[in-house]
Amino acid sequence: MSPNGTLDALLVEKRVFRPLPGQAIEANLPPQELEAARKKAQTAPLDIWEEAASELVWYRPWQAVVSAPDGAAFPRWFPGGQTNIVANALDRHVESAHRNTLALIFEYASGENKKFTYFELHREVCRLARAFVSLGAARGDRILIHMPTLPETVIGMLAAARIGAVHCLAPLGFSAKALRRRIEASRARIILTADIGLQGDRMAPIKPVVDEALAGTGETRVETVVVVRRSDQDIPMTEGRDLYYHDILGGGREASPPEPMESDEELFVLHAGSSLSAPRGIVHGHGGYMVGVYRTATWVLDLKPADVIWCTAEPAWITGHSYAVYGPLLAGATTVVVEGNPLAGHGQRLFEIIDRHGVSVLYTSPTLIRMMRRMGAAPGRDRDASTLRLLATAGEPIPPELWVWFHKTMGKGQCPLLDTWWQTETGMILLSPLPASLLAPGSVGRPLPGVSADVVDDAGNPVPPGKGGHLVLNAPWPGMLLTLDGDPEGYRRQYFERIKGVFFTGDMARRDEDGSFWIQGRADDVVQLGGHRLGSAEIEGALASHPALAEAAVIVVPDAMGATAAKAFLVPILDWDLRYDSEEDLVRDVKAHLRRELGTVAEVRFFAVRSCLPKTPSGKISRKALREEA
Ligand code: WT7
Repeated sequence: MSPNGTLDALLVEKRVFRPLPGQAIEANLPPQELEAARKKAQTAPLDIWEEAASELVWYRPWQAVVSAPDGAAFPRWFPGGQTNIVANALDRHVESAHRNTLALIFEYASGENKKFTYFELHREVCRLARAFVSLGAARGDRILIHMPTLPETVIGMLAAARIGAVHCLAPLGFSAKALRRRIEASRARIILTADIGLQGDRMAPIKPVVDEALAGTGETRVETVVVVRRSDQDIPMTEGRDLYYHDILGGGREASPPEPMESDEELFVLHAGSSLSAPRGIVHGHGGYMVGVYRTATWVLDLKPADVIWCTAEPAWITGHSYAVYGPLLAGATTVVVEGNPLAGHGQRLFEIIDRHGVSVLYTSPTLIRMMRRMGAAPGRDRDASTLRLLATAGEPIPPELWVWFHKTMGKGQCPLLDTWWQTETGMILLSPLPASLLAPGSVGRPLPGVSADVVDDAGNPVPPGKGGHLVLNAPWPGMLLTLDGDPEGYRRQYFERIKGVFFTGDMARRDEDGSFWIQGRADDVVQLGGHRLGSAEIEGALASHPALAEAAVIVVPDAMGATAAKAFLVPILDWDLRYDSEEDLVRDVKAHLRRELGTVAEVRFFAVRSCLPKTPSGKISRKALREEA
């Protein structure tokens, strides 16, 4: 136990890192303006979003910033306003002085790359948009995109959105049966796919999986399958249904203006949940999502037109939608999109790409950072990654030890490292430090100005600082999902009834005296220990500082008495057996370490030693798989 005897005191991470003065002043939201924004957020939070919206192009002005005639679950952002996110992501820049700025740099696994200026990307998007229209696609139609990561994936998303169609990305790796479920759930009329594509480390057929999915019994609405051709081998094409991408593109120069969309009309559906369970279709719209992603891309990721951002998430996931595609383009920056493993060649590829394109902002995940550390990948003399100025992570808790390692090696102690919290449902970053704020490793900072979050008990009462509770959002934010596809009532019940009237995130968190938030993990992964709630994230954070562990995950399991107990899965570093005689020996040492770090209250009851941990398709540790195994 700690000198002052409480577990809460032990959990407080005390290291603080300051931004360099020059950096803070040059930020899009420099210290003084950040102060002003925080003040404004208290008295007139909606002004924050209205100002962001005013920086963008609208076909018709909004009548209100937000109104909620249908209750807290269904706020309407910028009602009455008409816009199109693509008009802001592309046309706005093409009509400005930086039409020749690079919009997209695509890096193939082969090492070749393809670059598109805003002018060029706009032209490609317009060509595909016209082709979609000639195939009969119209506003409101669903277009399912089942693509490897390719330039055409990004172009497909933007072309769909431009004509007012709704894109729905189904990542690779699904069985034909799982893909079939997505096709049915999406009600797509057009599928955009490729003949083959990189899956893991090798090229795999893709179109045959689509064929098999469509051959299933019963009707789908699919009329056309558009196939991007990557191989020179012919593949079976179904007459009257399948068309090659390059065959449907007309040359043409006719203007194809973006479709003016109502602010709350649908932009995309992304299915959350495992590929096996019934997919929950999370629906986002044009106006609110656009404003939220634009504001966070500019305030949090600090994007300016001169920036080159590499968000390592694939476009098919929400992080890719918001911060590899829409966010960077709305901000007028250059986005780097990469096919294949960013850490190929023992991590060398990461540095090659950063140096080749002058990446200035790197947005990645704790999983990738963990792998980097395991490989010992760090900037060296030849590959110095000196263009980086800002680092950010998302998706999972980043243990303080890992934070400090990444900050020091990748950022050379000079780049702010922002731990950003959000969800597919939130559409945009909601909790994060800002480039001009102090950084505490392990904390996701405060809610962004204009965002209102709280930590409450099961009954919805706020809990005092230092205590854990449910992380809830008690006011709408612009990137908020519109609904669950086809299930508005389920949406309201699932998110707004657990604790009446507020958005239930399903995460546990605690807040410190300064108002900074510390994520403890999903509610399912929180252990009750003598009246104290201890999150898996906190135990994992303590495990991460053990020198012999490469990775660790903690889940909650029922013990023999029916109470909850923590079980830790440990992945030791290579060569661990030089230091320990046996797994038991390692576990004994890890237990002693935990006792030092967290005190006896935080006793982990069960341990398992593994060579790797199961991962979800998006790269997170799969707690579900661990739970099933336990
Ligand atoms: C869940 C959402 C980040 C968007 C992409 C993933 C966890 C997310 C953090 C963070 C700790 C985090 C939460 C959240 N999560 N960011 N910075 N620290 N946990 O979106 O797949 O919908 O997952 O990821 O548990 O609820 P998602």
